[in-house]
Amino acid sequence: MKGANTIDLTGQVGIVTGGTRGLGRQIAVALADAGARVTVCGRTEPDDLPEGVDFRAADVRDPDQAAALVDAIAAQHGRLDILVNNAGGSPQAPATASPRFFDAIVRLNLHSAMYMSQAAYAHMARAGCGSIVNIASVSGIRPSPMTAAYGAAKAGLLNLTQSLAQEWGPDGVRVNAIIVGLMQTETSEETYGDAEAQAAVGRSMPLGRMGTGQDIAGAVLWLSSSLAAWVSGARINVDGGGERPYFLDLVKGS
Ligand SMILES: NC(=O)c1ccc[n+]([C@@H]2O[C@H](COP(=O)([O-])OP(=O)(O)OC[C@H]3O[C@@H](n4cnc5c(N)ncnc54)[C@H](O)[C@@H]3O)[C@@H](O)[C@H]2O)c1
Repeated sequence: MKGANTIDLTGQVGIVTGGTRGLGRQIAVALADAGARVTVCGRTEPDDLPEGVDFRAADVRDPDQAAALVDAIAAQHGRLDILVNNAGGSPQAPATASPRFFDAIVRLNLHSAMYMSQAAYAHMARAGCGSIVNIASVSGIRPSPMTAAYGAAKAGLLNLTQSLAQEWGPDGVRVNAIIVGLMQTETSEETYGDAEAQAAVGRSMPLGRMGTGQDIAGAVLWLSSSLAAWVSGARINVDGGGERPYFLDLVKGS
């Protein structure tokens, strides 16, 4: 038997939206490794699914599909303990991009988390416990060019996290967010350049490297476990210590 300070999610049921690849996939694997029965969703089924992880097709931008997904999993397993709102992202785009682009990005990064959380809350509140983790981004706290829609949506997600934590805490439902920093993923070459350029970005950070899915999965695992039983409404930076303030490069010897 595992000790009280060990993460053991045996018997628990979780959903990771957009867990077919990228960070979500590693989050799903970490939860499954800890004993949870995990379902990932996406619009199309991937060719390879990690062991112990199920898939259901759902477009989480659609409230009906989000609710149907949550209800189906809760009915299949008789419970729902963990929801990770991970589906999200955005191409870089100028603030003059079309209103349709803005709507699409906000819908993917913010509305979807609300739809999934509302559906999950019904099951979790009935059981008197549950954990929701929202995957946010440094773009939500530090605006930059070419990320107007994405940054606004992630900022909204951070606010939503704390509103839901306030409202649903009395029902035993915890809601937290992870502020993800600069990551080394399959798509990071598009954003940061080749491996050498990414290493240089990493060296500019206090912990000397960009993040990996494993770094994020560890934080989700903890927030989803009873070790975080008194943590709700938290916005946890998992970002290698953030970025070095630019002015330090101007200060001799720093
Ligand atoms: N990768 C980074 O550098 C980084 C940095 C900060 C925050 N984040 C956040 O982390 C999360 C995961 O990012 P990633 O880089 O792993 O993304 P990714 O593009 O590699 O994967 C996104 C996942 O979401 C799924 N998805 C997309 N649209 C969907 C929809 N409408 N319905 C259901 N599923 C859908 C995709 O199938 C995929 O599984 C996102 O919320 C992103 O904003 C990523």
